[in-house]
Order: sequence, then structure tokens, then C-alpha cells
Amino acid sequence: MQNKKPNYYNDLNEVYLKIWNLLDSGLKKRDAPFHIPVLICGNENKFDGRIVVLRGVDYKEKKIWFHSDIRSNKVKILKKNPEAALLFYDKNEKIQLRIKGKTKINYQNETTKKSWQKTTQMSRQCYLGEIGPGLPSSEASSGLTKDVDDLKYSVEESEIGYKNFCVVEVFINSIEWLYLAAKGHRRAYITYKNNSLEKKWLIP
Ligand SMILES: Cc1cc2nc3c(=O)[nH]c(=O)nc-3n(C[C@H](O)[C@H](O)[C@H](O)COP(=O)(O)O)c2cc1C
Repeated sequence: MQNKKPNYYNDLNEVYLKIWNLLDSGLKKRDAPFHIPVLICGNENKFDGRIVVLRGVDYKEKKIWFHSDIRSNKVKILKKNPEAALLFYDKNEKIQLRIKGKTKINYQNETTKKSWQKTTQMSRQCYLGEIGPGLPSSEASSGLTKDVDDLKYSVEESEIGYKNFCVVEVFINSIEWLYLAAKGHRRAYITYKNNSLEKKWLIP
């Protein structure tokens, strides 16, 4: 149990710094809990959540992003309703973040070109299926050929996956923070409105 109160316990500015700190380590450290948030999106009365990998954090532009398959259901949903939420929880830090924002699907543009160049040969595997994700299959299958399953493809051969690759940016509108502490939880709400930042406490 943490005995000493962290510096963000009663300080909204420190809360704000801690948020971006956690996002940054989620981006850089594969084992950090913030590396794999849950993305929630939906239409009208249907909502669903799924894990994605945090692939980018931009403190200045207040946006974060992840990679996906342009053929996926979540992309279809986001095209209709670009509002989405990303849910993070770090058990050791006892911090939950609920980030809400408007998404932009980048496809075959400068953003995707830059991100695709940075992907590893191995991570391109998930974009090499002929049939799109989520479609029915008559048998148990990864949707990939045996060679692709076995990672037997060259960098040149992996280029074909670019046609299925997209980068989903989330332009943040609000961040809700919850810090669990035995001697009193803390909850804060941060909003970005017309380029101005507002931070306030809420009752947890
Ligand atoms: C650890 C982990 C990481 C994942 N990372 C991603 C990701 O970065 N992008 C993505 O589209 N799907 C990712 N997935 C798969 C999604 O959770 C989901 O199953 C898939 O994208 C289909 O979702 P959809 O039908 O809502 O489009 C990941 C799954 C796990 C378990």
C-alpha cells in the first residue's frame, strides 16, 4: 500500500502532467498497462469495446493514435460516428483514464506512409490477410497463408499489406482521471474547448 501521498493527490496541474507521463510510457513500454487501452465506439444504441495498441502520443496537438485494418468493423463504425472513448487502467498506479474524442481515419496519406514505414516486418503480418477481419470462416483459421503464418515473407512481400493499413487518430476533447487511494479517492475532469484547457475536481 502507498503510504506517502503522490504529488498529484491535491494538485490538478500535477494530475495533468501525470496523465501525459503515463500516456508517454504507455507508448514506449510494451509492458506498461497504458500500452493497450480499450477503444469504445458505437452507433445509436449499439456500443462495443476492444483492445488496441497505443501507437502515438502528441501532447501539443492533444491527440493519440492507433493502427488498424481499414476493413475492420470498428473502422466502419467510426466512419459513421467518429466519437470514441479510450479506457486505460494501471493497477500499480491505481489510475484510470477515460479519454473521449473525435477520431480521424487516415488511409493512404502522409500519416499512414510515415507510420507504415516504422512498422516492423513482423507486425505487418496482421495486414496480409486476403479476407477482411470479422468475416465468417468455414474452418478455424487465421485468415493468412501458411507462409505468412510462419512469418516467411520478405519486406517487399509485406508491402501489399499497406492497402489494408490505417492510422486512427483520436483528437482529445476530455479526459477523466480517477485515482484510487485508501484514504480518499480523487477524480478530475479535463476538457479542451476552443484551444483552452480546463481542469476541475469531481467527487469520485
Ligand atoms: C493485445 C491486443 C492488441 C491489439 N491491438 C490492436 C490494434 O492495435 N489495432 C486493432 O485494430 N486491433 C487490435 N487488436 C484486436 C482488437 O482487439 C479486435 O479484436 C479486432 O481489431 C477486431 O475488432 P473490431 O471487430 O471491433 O474491428 C488487439 C487485440 C489484443 C488482444
